[in-house]
Amino acid sequence: MKDVIIACDFSGSGEVLDFLDGFSGCERKPFVKIGMELFYGAGPDIVRQIKMRGHRIFLDLKLHDIPNTVRKTMKVLSALDVDMTNVHAAGTIDMMKAALEGLTRPDGTRPLLIAVTQLTSTSEERMRNELLISAGMNETIAQYAMNAGTAGLDGVVCSPLEAAMVKERCGKDFLAVTPGIRFADSAADDQVRIMTPQKARLTGSDFIVVGRPITAAEDPVAAYQRCVTEFLG
Ligand code: C5P
Repeated sequence: MKDVIIACDFSGSGEVLDFLDGFSGCERKPFVKIGMELFYGAGPDIVRQIKMRGHRIFLDLKLHDIPNTVRKTMKVLSALDVDMTNVHAAGTIDMMKAALEGLTRPDGTRPLLIAVTQLTSTSEERMRNELLISAGMNETIAQYAMNAGTAGLDGVVCSPLEAAMVKERCGKDFLAVTPGIRFADSAADDQVRIMTPQKARLTGSDFIVVGRPITAAEDPVAAYQRCVTEFLG
């Protein structure tokens, strides 16, 4: 189940397909994350194209709206047959339940549904001063994760620093999908709560989401292989 997911944060289909062509000789077909930039730029067809090439897909659109809108949108997204998608836990338990309902197909199958707790670019200071959330980061994440569990979701997106705590509160089978991954020798960029792939494995992440350390590397395939080796051992 554990895997490395490449965050394909490109704006056009040509760019992402060229990037994925580079992995055609790879024994392991990368699990790919399609985010807002690519989805809004290239449209839903890019999901179908990448799926047809045999990649598993995490559609990272972080839905956050009223429950009815989220339910109906998830119904549309479920037809794309991705493997994983997500919402913001801040949308409340009702919204997450509606998302799950919308995503579930008539035969009962559905992609994995996870919730974003706090973005890994958000610091506790910004949470307190800008969002007026006075509870600490860990407490907030634990509560958001438990809300996601109550709504019936499969797990959360969180920083690898919080994965162990999430498992402790929500059970070992509750998924921890963790961005904010950096090699020991690479730049943090705009991420604040970061960890190496190797450490993320030790703290219990199920999936690591890695963007720029792979996409901006001189040799993306080598960077991907390094992640796989560090994370999966
Ligand atoms: O380039 P980098 O490795 O920082 O990319 C991380 C990816 O994970 C981005 O696509 C970002 O949108 C996503 N993400 C995140 N923090 C979250 C949820 C998603 O960084 N809490």
